[in-house]
Amino acid sequence: IRRITIQDIQKKYKNGTHLTMCTAYDYITANWVHKSQCDMILVGDSLAMTSLGYDSTTDLPFDEFKYHVKSVCRTRGPSLIVVDMPFGSFEQSLEFGISNAVELMKLSSGVTSLKIEMGTYAKDKYTFQLIKELCSRGIPVMPHIGLTPQRAHSLSGFKVQASKDATAIRDLYETALKLQELGCWSCLLECVPHKVASFITSKLRIPTIGIGAGGGTSGQVLVVADMLDMQNNRVPRFVKKYNSLENIAVESLKKYNEDVTTNTFPETDLHAFKVKEDVWQDFVS
Ligand code: KIV
Ligand code: NA
Repeated sequence: IRRITIQDIQKKYKNGTHLTMCTAYDYITANWVHKSQCDMILVGDSLAMTSLGYDSTTDLPFDEFKYHVKSVCRTRGPSLIVVDMPFGSFEQSLEFGISNAVELMKLSSGVTSLKIEMGTYAKDKYTFQLIKELCSRGIPVMPHIGLTPQRAHSLSGFKVQASKDATAIRDLYETALKLQELGCWSCLLECVPHKVASFITSKLRIPTIGIGAGGGTSGQVLVVADMLDMQNNRVPRFVKKYNSLENIAVESLKKYNEDVTTNTFPETDLHAFKVKEDVWQDFVS
């Protein structure tokens, strides 16, 4: 199967086609995304909560994340795979960050790009420098700006960014421009006002992927566990639930539980194997 390349994404973007991205956490969910023909899979560190039960993405150990990346990368499908740099894998030093970035890229040839959360250029020269080092080493980077969950404490929670004052909007816009200058191939915008995301998108030559950023970005990303309602949990306002997998799964399991309890499953004609009558007679005689 032919994998979508960054160049393919750029062509789609230039043609004005909206880009599609969805998270996946393992072999099963990644195969679903491939089969849906979404352009991109994000192995997001949101798997810390959705798959592993941690309270925050900042709790996610790097080794556990790598195990999930490898599982996603064992799929053979068309969607381009982008992988998060988890909290704790790049903050210590440039050298440490570069080394972990290389390690993620080396997990599989399927890993095409890394995604890195950063603050604004005005406040976060360190991550900016790291992204520069990675780009110059031929590692494609999709920076993630706006609401960055790994930095939730310094943002005092999960709230809309670049909405309070003109300086905040200017800082976010400057950050996106600077990242484009570095050679980033795309930019993810999370939880920023529709107008701000649309404005930034209109000023960039690289595609923006939005989540909670309105319809004016070049593409959208959603968390698979949220959009399929895999756990019946509360989701942010910007999520659209396309189905209710938890209900489907739990209803099915309840039915199974009932069937076994009442001995209506398995049915002899449908779910059981036969032994030839002559063999059986030979045995019982
Ligand atoms: O980890 C994740 O799922 C993400 C998306 C919310 C963009 O970073
Ligand atoms: Na993430």
